[in-house]
Amino acid sequence: MALILGIETSCDETGIALYDSQKGIMAHALYSQIALHNQYGGVVPELASRDHVKKIIPLINQCALDANIKLKDIDAIAYTTGPGLNGALLIGASVANGLAFSLNKPVIPIHHLEGHLLSPFLCEDKPSMPFIALLVSGGHSQLIAVKQVGEYTILGDTLDDAAGEAFDKTAKMLNLPYPGGKYIALLAQNGIEEFKLPRPMLHSNDLQFSFSGLKTAVATLIHKLGGVETLTQQTKCNIAKSIEESITDVLVKKSVAALKTTGIYQLVVSGGVSANLQLRHKLGQIPEIKVYYPPLDLCTDNGAMIALAGSMRYHLAKFDYNFSVTPRYPLELIV
Ligand code: KG4
Ligand code: ZN
Repeated sequence: MALILGIETSCDETGIALYDSQKGIMAHALYSQIALHNQYGGVVPELASRDHVKKIIPLINQCALDANIKLKDIDAIAYTTGPGLNGALLIGASVANGLAFSLNKPVIPIHHLEGHLLSPFLCEDKPSMPFIALLVSGGHSQLIAVKQVGEYTILGDTLDDAAGEAFDKTAKMLNLPYPGGKYIALLAQNGIEEFKLPRPMLHSNDLQFSFSGLKTAVATLIHKLGGVETLTQQTKCNIAKSIEESITDVLVKKSVAALKTTGIYQLVVSGGVSANLQLRHKLGQIPEIKVYYPPLDLCTDNGAMIALAGSMRYHLAKFDYNFSVTPRYPLELIV
């Protein structure tokens, strides 16, 4: 049994959680910097670091209060060591190591994507290993064979834009706020698939993704229709629906291909795009597969997935505070 404090600061969310390997999530707190970065149309790394500094200690205190525990009662501190923004990662790593040193507790560095991969274990209905993971976030679109904790084989990756990035960039073309995935999904609810957009790499006979062609197709479409300023709300909804259908079709088709190729029929879908309800709906229509997701509010970045991954790696906790962060950190390099 272990009580883990999880700290996530890889990008624009300060996520803190306390996870007990027997009782589950004891407390979790999240501060999103979206409003701060929205005016710039994307994340400004220096502003992200400065904001993590402001929020991280109050959120740790809040979690301890909510869970009614003293920090001296935790068993270890897990923190995101990469991939992510260098400065932002360093804030989490510094606080995690400084706090652990002062409390004489061990630390567990966690790969951010492993946090996403394992996040469905935060639900009641947990997958068993091996499973195939579709990891779809702002920076990643990957299909991964997960044999056990730490044993990951990348089956497919994106050649250019990630699925979340495709949502975000096309949302920007429609003048929607950043990050745009959830706004495309909201508009799509009132739209029909009026425009047949390309399904990139749908028939490529491999498990690779590519979404930059879709971005170009949406730009061309909006231009042909007379520019974004001239679009009616209904046309915007229809474009959003067309985008969502294109991206989710590709994600579903490639996931099914990965399951068939490996003969593993359990699919875990995680990362921010796993919050997309149309993606969940389409995967739910396929009878022979069992699909697992993180809780809806824990699909995007959060501290609970880092604390959970820490509890699954507790045996590797170490009293060594000589830390570094790894902004570029391929999943295969996890040990
Ligand atoms: O995992 P995440 O929080 O951060 C990264 O590690 O990148 O994922 C953020 C991504 C963004 O691209 C965002 O637009 C997308 O997840 N996203 C969605 C939805 N909610 C978030 N995409 C489609 N539909 C959604 N409902
Ligand atoms: Zn993420």
